[in-house]
Amino acid sequence: MRTHYCGATKDVSVGETVTICGWVDRRRDHGGVIFLDMRDRDGIVQVVFDPDTKEHFALADKVRSEYVLQITGRIRERSAETVNPAMATGHIEILGKELVILNESAPPPFPLDAHQTVGEDVRLRYRFMDLRRESMQRNLISRSQITSTIRSYLESAGFLDIETPVLTRATPEGARDYLVPSRTNASKFFALPQSPQLFKQLLMVSGFDRYYQIARCFRDEDLRADRQPEFTQIDIELSFTDESEVMRLTEGMVQTLFKQHLNVDLGDFPQMTWHEAMERFGSDKPDLRIDLELISIDDLMQDVEFKVFSGPANDVKGRVAALRVPGGSTISRKEIDELTKYVGNYGARGLAWIKVNDKAAGVEGLQSPILKFMPEATVHQLVERLALEDGDIVFFGADKRQVVNDALGALRLKVAEMMGLVGSGWAPLWVVDFPMFEETGDGSLTAIHHPFTAPSCDVGELTAAPQQALSRAYDMVLNGSEIGGGSIRIHRQDMQKAVFDVLGISSEEAEAKFGFLLAALKHGAPPHGGLAFGLDRLVMLMVDGQSIRDVIAFPKTQSAQCVMTDAPGEVSEQQLRDLSIRLRTPEK
Ligand code: AMO
Ligand code: AMP
Repeated sequence: MRTHYCGATKDVSVGETVTICGWVDRRRDHGGVIFLDMRDRDGIVQVVFDPDTKEHFALADKVRSEYVLQITGRIRERSAETVNPAMATGHIEILGKELVILNESAPPPFPLDAHQTVGEDVRLRYRFMDLRRESMQRNLISRSQITSTIRSYLESAGFLDIETPVLTRATPEGARDYLVPSRTNASKFFALPQSPQLFKQLLMVSGFDRYYQIARCFRDEDLRADRQPEFTQIDIELSFTDESEVMRLTEGMVQTLFKQHLNVDLGDFPQMTWHEAMERFGSDKPDLRIDLELISIDDLMQDVEFKVFSGPANDVKGRVAALRVPGGSTISRKEIDELTKYVGNYGARGLAWIKVNDKAAGVEGLQSPILKFMPEATVHQLVERLALEDGDIVFFGADKRQVVNDALGALRLKVAEMMGLVGSGWAPLWVVDFPMFEETGDGSLTAIHHPFTAPSCDVGELTAAPQQALSRAYDMVLNGSEIGGGSIRIHRQDMQKAVFDVLGISSEEAEAKFGFLLAALKHGAPPHGGLAFGLDRLVMLMVDGQSIRDVIAFPKTQSAQCVMTDAPGEVSEQQLRDLSIRLRTPEK
């Protein structure tokens, strides 16, 4: 139907005749001449109809925004004063000869041009229109190109693309499962995979050696800007390997992506232990573009009369830490109150602070609600430890270690954003040496990664002191976002059993849930390990999207719904009967 995409007309010689197809982006009537901006996925080109072509001019007069047209015309140069440098095709236009209206369009539910801000609810309801917008077209085209580079990188490294089931059993990654009732096996349910974790390990046992899959994963968890209930992983697993090989290979993949698509050299990724990341940044995914750090002051606070500080300072599970923000003394009382409320979301019961108005004046030059609780000598030590300067503000956290890290870690990001302290560019790193387990509220242990992650100690050491055990896991972090995570896996049955024991999973439960994995570990499982990237997150960062929804064609809302198709939806009584399901809250 066409000879060229709209955008491609920029390379056509003047005088040549072209046929384009696309949507009317804009129609203008300039004193007897009609201008149509025609749009397709490749770009926009201006078409001019003058009254000489009578019948087609009359049609051009009738068209409206988003009509679908086929236009044939001749490429001509624009006069110097009408050249539009903001448009890729801005040096030419098409002199329209023939116009066919392929379809009409109802008025668009919202304007499609980039300068209008439209509520996301409307955008998602009419997603097929929203996706016509240039930014969304660009994002999805980039996503496709990025995926293609990933495939060729992995395939040239000998990886095989193997699909794993979507209707399966629970795969524990720490979220809730999406369940699918089975009709043919009454009162039984499939679970949608939270990841292909167990299947990729089984493929290693089967000898495929190098596997990858661009795999859909499903997790019923609370949503945030960088999470979706269904999302895509670049899932990778290899045999006879160790952490350095997996990291080298996947780091190389991300370096290649950035070079090819953004012409950015990421360089070698630094490595940081989990412990260091938590101590210095209060986060296991530190944003290293921000030059602010948490500093421990437990030793200085052990004897102060302020119980809020001395309590945690003397508790092995507690922490007292400070975050110094240069230039932060401009932060107002009202803003401090807001920040106090903000850290409250992370469990902090307050947010003490000191402003440095005049360092030379000693304690007199400091302003703070907590100085009265501290001997002057301690204040001096604090000033020195934190290297305070005029114009600084320091915030304090004192509580259980985890609460302080979470609260000050989040505050660090918030304040950096507020004060424009987030550096530009890219800050990748590896976080390594995670603990194997963390304590839950009731004192039991859960796996920090999944329960198939190998510890860096032996069975005896693991059983004797599980809290001390480190795992052979690694996370890739970019600009404060966890874009990938993986580990060397347990490939021996005795170790897998020891980990299940620590987690309080009985042999019967392990057999019922993961019997197939335990059987596979008995039948010659090779040492293996891998990693999975969050493709959506990675693309979001690469295209500088605001949310993960900007790089997914048909995403879910914050409440895990699709407002366009109205999913999830109700089902008929008959369908429920077929599935042997009776609802607890009957329809009104
Ligand atoms: P993990 O749970 O860390 O590891 O997931 C890997 C990566 O997937 C991305 N991700 C998400 N992206 C969008 N929405 C979500 N709800 C979401 N949840 C996770 C993150 C994360 O780094 N089987 C292991 C991998 C392995 O060990 O090989 C796993 O799934 O970017
Ligand atoms: P109060 O004596 O409770 O008024 O607290 C004095 C200051 O300490 C206030 O600025 C509180 O916000 C702050 N504060 C209270 N509890 C904590 C805590 N756990 N960590 C950090 N600051 C706190």
